[in-house]
Order: sequence, then structure tokens, then C-alpha cells
Amino acid sequence: MRNRTRALLATSWTLLLFVSGCEGGGGAETPPANRPKVGVILPDRTTSARWETLDHPLLASALAATGVDADIRNADGDVQKFSQDADDLIRKGVKVLMVVSLDSQSGAEVERKARAAGVATVDYDRLTLGGSASYYVSFDNVGVGQLQAQGLVDCLGQKRGARIVEIEGAPTDNNATLFHQGQEQVLKPKYDSGEYTLVRSQPIDNWDAEQAGGVFEQILDANRDRVDGVVAANDGLADAVISVLRQHGLAGKVPVTGQDATLAGLRSVLRGDQCMSVYKPVRDEAAAAAGLVSALAKGDKGSADTLATGVVRDEAGHRDVPALLIKPTMITKANIKKVVSDNAVSAADLCAGDLAPLCRAADLPG
Ligand code: BGC
Repeated sequence: MRNRTRALLATSWTLLLFVSGCEGGGGAETPPANRPKVGVILPDRTTSARWETLDHPLLASALAATGVDADIRNADGDVQKFSQDADDLIRKGVKVLMVVSLDSQSGAEVERKARAAGVATVDYDRLTLGGSASYYVSFDNVGVGQLQAQGLVDCLGQKRGARIVEIEGAPTDNNATLFHQGQEQVLKPKYDSGEYTLVRSQPIDNWDAEQAGGVFEQILDANRDRVDGVVAANDGLADAVISVLRQHGLAGKVPVTGQDATLAGLRSVLRGDQCMSVYKPVRDEAAAAAGLVSALAKGDKGSADTLATGVVRDEAGHRDVPALLIKPTMITKANIKKVVSDNAVSAADLCAGDLAPLCRAADLPG
């Protein structure tokens, strides 16, 4: 799939220029009653801090800037609520419904219902396999997995025979599959050559951090603490793994990966408990999504097609989905400043309390 996927390195700036071009610069002047309605359903509030702290507010402001009237919901990890919110939004007359599916089956069902009601759909962040979304906006998710594996390799250094545990995301989330694919491109040759040993690769239902902690504890016990590195698919799972490592006196000794550059994840990176995170500029993802959604809502399919510069393959649906994919960045202590200079976290939050001296060492205003 990788060679079929062209990633666009979109910046929010170019997207905002595009968006204001669509509006003739007068987005804020459209009277509220004349603004097309659009709906968004985010997945939950617990599997990553990103959904409510970044995606929700950034989508709200990016969509408002394009002159559409956005109703943003959160399914709270509940497929029933996801489906009810979709029904409600369709009944309220949204022109476009953008979703982050909890699983492809329930996502595809919602997209089928929307289409039957004449409502276009967009997949945000997660591709709904077998769905009917007109567009997909996300990051290069195989690339995310490659960065995680490369980050782990860098942190392990010359540790021959390193014993690796992989704590993966939800098997029902296509992204988790892609992250794993990217990781294996880097790690499988090392497993095959005996340079590393794969102790266990364990998917975690619903990205549930508590479950991940329990499973990791069992793995550690069963291997009498002989684990040298952990691929954790996001910062939430990483945090659960690090807590268990801490109880075993191993935090900071066993490198753990992450993703999302959450406040907690970055603080763990500064402390040296987490080896890296992957920074995905949600501001750019939200701006790209808002551009597509508002073009569709205004019936301007031509502009939407211009924004979707690539395609991704949906094997379950036997189709190529027009897509806009943004590049992720590896974050370690050495470049943690980037997340602050992008305003994705504040230096005050990152450096609060006992982390002030570590922040100064990382060239941050601690
Ligand atoms: C997203 C990640 C997130 C995870 C859990 C994935 O689909 O791409 O950013 O950490 O879901 O919510």
C-alpha cells in the first residue's frame, strides 16, 4: 500500500489560505442560519488525550473559520452512542458527517446510513474498512510505525539479542494494523537474523491502558523480568507499561516507545522513562479535514478533490479512497522543543513541578 500512498506535507498555513480562498475571505460574514451544517463524531476521551484536548478544539476552530456550522460529538467508546449520534446528526440536516470509527463494522454501517440519507462522509484519522467515505484525512500511519521501531532501535544501541515486547493498539482499528506493519518493516529483519528476539506481540482491545498494564505485568513475570525493550503503540499504552516497569525497578532502564506526543508522554520522555514519542501535528490534520468537509458541504467537489492528493487502498471495500496524509515526526529529548514551538503543548505544562531542571537541560524555558 505504501507505494500507492502519496503523502502531502500539508501545513495549516497553506490549508488556511486555501480555505479562505474558498470562502472569498468572508467566512465569518456568512449569517449563521445560512451556514451549512456538518457533524463530527470523535471516538472516546480515554484512549488518548489527543481527542478532547487537541482534535476537538482544533476542529471546532478550523471548521468555524471555513464558515460551516459544526456539531462535534464524542462517542465515549460506545458503538451504540456512535450510531445514535450519527442518526441524530443526519436528522438535524448535516450536509457532511466526519467520523473516527470505533471499529470498521459499525463505522461502515453509519456511513451506509448517511449515504442513504444523501449525507457525504469523511473518515478522520482512521480508515473505515469496507466503508463508503468520500475522503480520508490522516497521517502516514505506516510511517508512524517505522518511526516507533527506529526510535526503539536507536534507544537500544548495540544490544545484541535484545528481548522485545510489542504492546499494540486495538485490532479493530486499521491504524493499529498500519502502525504494526511499519514497525515490522524495521524489526522483522532483526528478529529473523537473531539480532533481537520477539518475546510477544500483543494487541490491546479498545486501546485500553489498564488492560495493557495487566497484560504487560504477566509478560514480565513469565519472563522473569528479562525484557529489554517495549514497542508501545501510543503514549497511553506506554504509560501503563512504564508504571509496571517502575514497580519492577526497571523504569528508565528498558526503553519504551509511544505516540501522540501527549503531555504525559512528553514528560516521560524528559524523565528518560519513555524513549520516544511520535508527534502528529493534529492542527494540520484538523485544518486539512476542515478544508475537505467545508468544500463538500458547499457542494464544491472540485476543491475537495484538489485537497485529496493521494489514495489509500481499502482491500475490504475493493476501492481506492482519495486521501490526504500528513507526515509524522519522531520526538526524543533532543527535539522535544519542536512540540512546544508548534504550540501543541505549553512549556509551562511540560516543565511544571520537578521537571524544571530537565527542561532547562533540554533547552526549554523550565
Ligand atoms: C490514533 C492514535 C491514537 C489511538 C488511540 C489511533 O487511531 O491514530 O493517535 O493514539 O487511535 O486513540
